Amino acid sequence: MSKAPSDRELGIRTQRSEGIERLDLEGPNRIHAERYEATPPGILDEMLLGLDVEWPAATFTDLGCGKGRVVCHAARWPFARVVGVELSATLAEQAQANVAAMRPAHRKAAKVEVQQGDAARHRFGPGPQVLYLYNPFRAPVLRAVVQHLLTDLTRHRAEAHVLYFEPMARAVLEQRPEVSLVAEARRWAVFRVAPGVTGETPNALE
Ligand SMILES: C[S@@+](CC[C@H](N)C(=O)[O-])C[C@H]1O[C@@H](n2cnc3c(N)ncnc32)[C@H](O)[C@@H]1O
Repeated sequence: MSKAPSDRELGIRTQRSEGIERLDLEGPNRIHAERYEATPPGILDEMLLGLDVEWPAATFTDLGCGKGRVVCHAARWPFARVVGVELSATLAEQAQANVAAMRPAHRKAAKVEVQQGDAARHRFGPGPQVLYLYNPFRAPVLRAVVQHLLTDLTRHRAEAHVLYFEPMARAVLEQRPEVSLVAEARRWAVFRVAPGVTGETPNALE
């Protein structure tokens, strides 16, 4: 994998940060949301390079995808599917526009899509999962995400990696026995989530 391209090289526009007051957030989880800020180019590649994942079977999901920078960078890897989920309708539209504008020469993923909605309601499909978080929301929302992830991984007999940049609510992951830390740097942590293949539904978090 060559050096991570800039927005300009990818043909996208994601740089400008947006304060929480500028985001059109709706629903009960808007109070747990963090502002929009894009992951610096290169961070995602740094986290993905060490991963042992069967790329063509795997789904990459950026929960709180903002304007879609990480979705576009993940699309440079040969994932079966890359999904962005964003609570703000305005940012989700911008992310969709960026995915459409991304230069095709950079794209290796088979399918790329952006959905507008609350990450706390997102459900995970079959196959290995790679979940990306850039400090998008606080612990109550992450708890709901982890509960769905564990239930869906158990149902599909699959495993996941959680790539967490600026991992402010990492304790939510660390307190689960199904979760182990596999790599760490100054600003990020990567966790493996392996709920076992017993078919049991994991215990509720609360
Ligand atoms: C720090 S930005 C990260 C943007 C992008 N992932 C990146 O790394 O470039 C966090 C984003 O999470 C979104 N967000 C916050 N709460 C959310 C929720 N419950 N569901 C979906 N998105 C959410 C915010 O609107 C914001 O765009």
